[in-house]
Amino acid sequence: MNLKFYIDIIKHRKSLKSTINAILNKLFFLCRLPFTANYPTNLIIEPTNFCNLKCPLCPVGTNSLKRKKETMDYEKYKSLINQLEQYLISIELTNYGEPFIHPHILDMISYAKKYNIFVTIESNGFLFKRGSTFIKDFIKSGVDHIKLALDGIDQKTLTKYRIGSNYNEFMDGLRYLLEERNRMRQKLPIVELQFIVMKHNRHQLVLITDLAKTLKIDKLTIKSLGINFLIEDDDDYSIIEQFLSLDSKISRYYKDDNGIIHLKGRIKNQCRWLHSSAVILANGDVVPCCYDATGEFVMGNAFMEPFLKIWTGAKYRKFRHIVYHKRHIIKMCRICSEGRGNLSYCEEYHK
Ligand SMILES: C[S@@+](CC[C@H](N)C(=O)[O-])C[C@H]1O[C@@H](n2cnc3c(N)ncnc32)[C@H](O)[C@@H]1O
Ligand code: SF4
Repeated sequence: MNLKFYIDIIKHRKSLKSTINAILNKLFFLCRLPFTANYPTNLIIEPTNFCNLKCPLCPVGTNSLKRKKETMDYEKYKSLINQLEQYLISIELTNYGEPFIHPHILDMISYAKKYNIFVTIESNGFLFKRGSTFIKDFIKSGVDHIKLALDGIDQKTLTKYRIGSNYNEFMDGLRYLLEERNRMRQKLPIVELQFIVMKHNRHQLVLITDLAKTLKIDKLTIKSLGINFLIEDDDDYSIIEQFLSLDSKISRYYKDDNGIIHLKGRIKNQCRWLHSSAVILANGDVVPCCYDATGEFVMGNAFMEPFLKIWTGAKYRKFRHIVYHKRHIIKMCRICSEGRGNLSYCEEYHK
């Protein structure tokens, strides 16, 4: 158990119950037990499952999600938070789709903040389209952390992957967010830029770091590219090859002698998420992992039955058992970097 884990508990402790719950999570995980008597400490919540952009390696951007397009019902979101607020340390408003398209996204943030839950949100910059009043209200919502995807520092480079994005609009919005946060004398939200490194943008790695320093961005993360939805299914690597560099410094993958792409490292029968976190899809379906984009492993629906019944139920227990004994039989686990070393992130810069 690391120091950050204890600091998080202390910072967000709401009761002895929630502290014991978080520690039990860790113990169940360490013992690899399939059952659990406790609640998750983190939820990934999907406000919408559609997007304004068309990123070519994302199942939303390529329209291959195979789920009905929808927006999470705000009242049902509130009842879910009500069920879990005593135990939740953090939520992440993200998954597949652009969260800021949700008409009640600021209410969703404020509602979680009422219960002192640490709120992270991810965006492609769509919030900047919603104007200056919206940006001010976003800061006032109490949100803790925003991760913004910026994979290029000019229009051409950015939109090679983020198809439909607008570089100048993104930068104007980003500067305004930082200025307003300073003007309001607030430290939050922590503003993080994420740069997914690909063939066409890797020459900008030094420039993005300089930009982050000049703008006094709180954190810059250089992320390796994932090709999760194509690997193993496709003999045709033409899309992948447009974007994926196999340079070992920036890639999670390697090519074998037969030209087949594999994830680096060895799969282990472990997963730290299964006792601490769950994903709630826009329609309320609960899946165990953010790699389950299509909703193949639905454990139940949190808008139709109590969350605890799902979390401790037979389906979830069976899933944990498989992961802890023969994880390789599940495709989404085979293509996931969990337990294989730090493959997803190449570098970080902090202010
Ligand atoms: C699917 S997106 C949803 C949130 C938002 N629309 C966005 O793009 O930031 C969730 C996260 O996946 C990242 N992402 C998108 N495509 C990726 C890829 N091919 N490899 C690794 N991360 C990716 C995004 O940058 C974001 O941090
Ligand atoms: S912006 Fe995010 S959700 Fe939208 S297509 Fe790109 S990666 Fe997918």
